Amino acid sequence: MTQGPLTTEAGAPVADNQNSETAGIGGPVLVQDQLLLEKLAHFNRERIPERVVHARGAGAYGTFTVTADVTPYTRAAFLSEVGKETETFLRFSTVAGNLGAADAVRDPRGFALKFYTEEGNYDLVGNNTPVFFIRDAIKFPDFIHTQKRDPYTGSQEADNVWDFWGLSPEATHQVTWLFGDRGIPASYRHMDGFGSHTYQWSNEAGEVFWVKYHFKTDQGIKNLTAEEAGVLAGRDPDSHQRDLREAIERGEFPSWTVGVQIMPAADAATYRFNPFDLTKVWPHADYPVTEIGRLELNRNPRNVFAEVEQSIFSPAHFVPGIGPSPDKMLQGRLFAYGDAHRYRVGINADHLPVNRPHATEARTNSRDGFLYDGRHGGTKNYEPNSFGGPRQTGRALWEPTSVAGPTGGHPTPVHAEDDDFVQAGNLYRLMSEEEKERLVANLAAAIAPVSREDIAERAIGNFAQADADFGKRLEAAVRALRG
Ligand code: HEM
Repeated sequence: MTQGPLTTEAGAPVADNQNSETAGIGGPVLVQDQLLLEKLAHFNRERIPERVVHARGAGAYGTFTVTADVTPYTRAAFLSEVGKETETFLRFSTVAGNLGAADAVRDPRGFALKFYTEEGNYDLVGNNTPVFFIRDAIKFPDFIHTQKRDPYTGSQEADNVWDFWGLSPEATHQVTWLFGDRGIPASYRHMDGFGSHTYQWSNEAGEVFWVKYHFKTDQGIKNLTAEEAGVLAGRDPDSHQRDLREAIERGEFPSWTVGVQIMPAADAATYRFNPFDLTKVWPHADYPVTEIGRLELNRNPRNVFAEVEQSIFSPAHFVPGIGPSPDKMLQGRLFAYGDAHRYRVGINADHLPVNRPHATEARTNSRDGFLYDGRHGGTKNYEPNSFGGPRQTGRALWEPTSVAGPTGGHPTPVHAEDDDFVQAGNLYRLMSEEEKERLVANLAAAIAPVSREDIAERAIGNFAQADADFGKRLEAAVRALRG
């Protein structure tokens, strides 16, 4: 802001910002006090709707640097050369809590990354976990209702959480992950990130590859125990947000080594797991993680509301050479985010400085709407036109996939080794004895408050199907707590 006197929104100087204007001394307030009315009215409109999920978060700008030649796999321009740098913005978040919730809670962390590329913004909207609770977008609103506040009590209820998970056995893998040691990261800097879904890469020749993204923290993994988190959440609800901002202020720029698992398109049909099922990982022994870059966060936003609260990320924001897979979760997300942005921030959300392309410009014929800033001036607003307007390119961003068969509510196809429990069991068996003990204790503490025996039993039954020892221990631990 420039120097000078305090003004109204219209720029007129303000004489008195301490006393509202009254009819006589001690009399009622006058409508002609426009400063008072303007201040109260603006204040009433300071909030926009919080994100329906991932409301609580923090963000920072950074740089992505390519460290390996991936041109055999994708024609994306920002990945075209070793050493090439792209500006980024990353927003971390928790999922279930409201805007003012504490950071140190057991919950997945969002890892939403915007690459400001010369071919437009590419958003990779992932989490700190490689898998998810469900495999079809049609279940997402129901799932989130069980994580949020109950319509009657207004609180999160163990009954709802475990009822849904018990009845959705495909959640067993993600729940086992969430109640393990990585379920409460010590900070946003000390956790990995994942694109989670399978995405399509395609090269200049149009060859297709399926990829999964991994962001390995260079700070090392650090987690909190349930007890440590309980204390920290009360003492410093903003712990993650503060840690990120202060580290960047100190010049300790957090970074992640970026890798991809690459599957040639021809493998997908016969791979032992359905490669488009979000409840499954691709074991590294099948498809190793190849390093492709480095992500560093090095600049804090100057204004949290403008740059973090109003930031928007959409899994539908692709660039040439990158596209979606048939993952049913991802397909639903391609719609959900743009729709949320139009509701939450408005139809011109992508004109805001944090959201618009930085390395190119958006050239559309969409115009007007609330808060339109007139950026297009008097240029024609239709295509094709004879006035030198922008033209379509004729080449799709991603390559087509072949489909066959009737329309219908088909479940996600099952491959040779797919079931709802195999990878949850493998994860459990990978854990050390101490890790297993903490996992069982965390789960038991969460299941014990469930009010109905059948709901608790069904939930425990899923873990027993993943691994008999897991189920036995959990049942004993829950029984001990319930008395
Ligand atoms: C079909 C399933 C899903 C639906 C319908 C859905 C929907 C949404 C919506 C509506 C928002 C709020 C967006 C906004 O207001 O700006 C959101 C935020 C978010 N979601 Fe999802 N989501 C789904 C699954 C997932 C999955 C599987 C992941 C991660 C792998 C994920 C990661 C995120 C993240 C990181 C944010 C916060 C983005 C930000 O920082 O602004 N979501 N989701």
